[in-house]
Amino acid sequence: MSDAIVIENLTKRYGEIRAADDLSLTVRKGELFGLLGPNGAGKTTTIRACLGLIEKTSGNISIFGMDSHRDSVEIRRVTGYLPGDFGLIPDLKVGRLLKYLLSLSDVESNEKLNDIARRLDLDLNRKTQELSKGNRQKVGIVQALMADQELIILDEPTGGLDPLVQQEFYSILREEQKAGKTVFMSSHVLASLISSPPAAISHHG
Ligand SMILES: Nc1ncnc2c1ncn2[C@@H]1O[C@H](COP(=O)(O)OP(=O)(O)OP(=O)(O)O)[C@@H](O)[C@H]1O
Ligand SMILES: [Mg+2]
Repeated sequence: MSDAIVIENLTKRYGEIRAADDLSLTVRKGELFGLLGPNGAGKTTTIRACLGLIEKTSGNISIFGMDSHRDSVEIRRVTGYLPGDFGLIPDLKVGRLLKYLLSLSDVESNEKLNDIARRLDLDLNRKTQELSKGNRQKVGIVQALMADQELIILDEPTGGLDPLVQQEFYSILREEQKAGKTVFMSSHVLASLISSPPAAISHHG
């Protein structure tokens, strides 16, 4: 089985609004896949449906052969996820927050957490509520990658990151991909997808 994500005819309606309209796509294992669309196109809706966080109106989504709705708990166990609206618990040091979140997974080593934080130039000793927007986004990225899950789903990961940090972030993603991970990320900025190597971006469906 070489497919990581198979979306078939996904439709999500909120009353009259079609947040996703008959979307089909396939992401193969080991692929770095960019989901591109303007504000309101349905990227966040699609991602949430993949993780079973919202009910679909119709269609099917399978993640590593698991059903997005029925197997949502197991899917979330094998997925590192950066939500579009990632929020931080205030009054905590960044390092303590991340170690706490890591403790909820079955990974015990802090090595990857520390390594990615260092590469993104994130200070683990700062208090969460003191962070700038870009630094808050780095916390979200570190928490999505630190538990070394097979699938990495990132909703607008590059918002607020300066160009140098963005470059380092793409290097990290390429290394994850080389290590066999599948990366599925959204953006509304084409440039933020094509500054990763074009060969690594694919569109299906
Ligand atoms: N809970 C909700 N109730 C009603 N409408 C919603 C809800 N969530 C999303 N929508 C609508 O569905 C459409 C798709 O929204 P979605 O957040 O998926 O877009 P997006 O591509 O992630 O946009 P952005 O680039 O701004 O993050 C929009 O028209 C939005 O207003
Ligand atoms: Mg969104």
